[in-house]
Amino acid sequence: MSVKKIVNTAVIGVGNWGKNLVRNFAELSNSNLIACCDLDEKKLEKIKKSFPKVSVTKNVNDVLRDPEIDAIIVATSASTHFKMAKKCLLSGKHVFVEKPLCLHVKDVNELNKIAKEKNKKIMVGHLLEYHPAVNYLKDFIKSGKLGDIYYIYSQRVNLGKIRDDENALWSLAPHDISVILYLLNEEPVSVAARGEYYLQKDLEDVVFLNLQFKDKKMANIHLSWLDPHKIRKITVVGNKKMVVFDDMEATEKIKIYDKGADPKGKYVSYEESITLRNGDILIPSFTLKEPLKLECQHFLDCIIKNKKPLSDGYDGLRVVRVLEAARKSLKKNGVPVRL
Ligand SMILES: NC(=O)c1ccc[n+]([C@@H]2O[C@H](COP(=O)([O-])OP(=O)(O)OC[C@H]3O[C@@H](n4cnc5c(N)ncnc54)[C@H](O)[C@@H]3O)[C@@H](O)[C@H]2O)c1
Repeated sequence: MSVKKIVNTAVIGVGNWGKNLVRNFAELSNSNLIACCDLDEKKLEKIKKSFPKVSVTKNVNDVLRDPEIDAIIVATSASTHFKMAKKCLLSGKHVFVEKPLCLHVKDVNELNKIAKEKNKKIMVGHLLEYHPAVNYLKDFIKSGKLGDIYYIYSQRVNLGKIRDDENALWSLAPHDISVILYLLNEEPVSVAARGEYYLQKDLEDVVFLNLQFKDKKMANIHLSWLDPHKIRKITVVGNKKMVVFDDMEATEKIKIYDKGADPKGKYVSYEESITLRNGDILIPSFTLKEPLKLECQHFLDCIIKNKKPLSDGYDGLRVVRVLEAARKSLKKNGVPVRL
């Protein structure tokens, strides 16, 4: 049996983010981008101008029914992901869905079931799991050099993009949640979220999300599209080292702090019972590559080599589980929701 080396692809949704996916699937050597679909004609015209060989359509069925197309990339708004991905899988296509995979756990379960039955790949766009800095951090944690993780906190704030179909939690948190679960390799036992809306009724602009893990590990995530600063930062505090991943830095994205506090045991006085360590700061060098390109390449590789995607439907499930619990907690003014 001959093994397919090139995947025929199509992108549905060529808006702000989808156009980056189009560029990557048009450029990667083992992707043959055949078609793009969007409801907005102007966006399709732009695609046609940049990629004349790619056919464009406003009708999703043109893409679903095209027997040439092996895999579909869905980059429409989150509320459409479930229906769109389901149609793709039922049409016998592999599917890559932007984050969040769905808005409800039951929908993710249904997609995973269909993907299994149809023997098709389902992958979710948890972009940061493909980020070389995140993978450096993951390896660093695995090596034991960070020690036991005490806690993690992250900030994903700036002014805009303000959405009118989802709140800041669903728009921004999938990134942080997916990284935190990826780094810890476990799911939280409870989730609490507080937030407020100021601009549009019932659509929180600012959310503070707390994940509690077993063994006292915790993570705190600050999300906002109503903030003067643009911050994309994750801090991991371990008992041996502390690491900061700052994605706004052009090159020095990871800083490892040899800082810590070592309890000596029995309390005598503050100075004598805890030793503070204020050592060097290391900025490691590693090769930076465009995370989106790595992510798109991974999707193609998984299809060609029949591998399980890193951010597969089950990874999508654990992230949506946390989001769904956070939604419940938000409604109850921050009461922790057990998973
Ligand atoms: N991975 C990342 O870093 C990242 C960044 C931004 C956005 N996203 C995700 O990408 C997705 C799209 O976000 P965006 O910012 O590009 O939104 P957008 O509104 O700019 O684009 C969505 C596009 O989908 C089209 N569309 C909607 N319904 C459609 C349908 N039924 N058929 C065909 N086309 C349809 C719209 O016309 C629009 O062009 C969201 O899920 C978002 O969360 C991911």
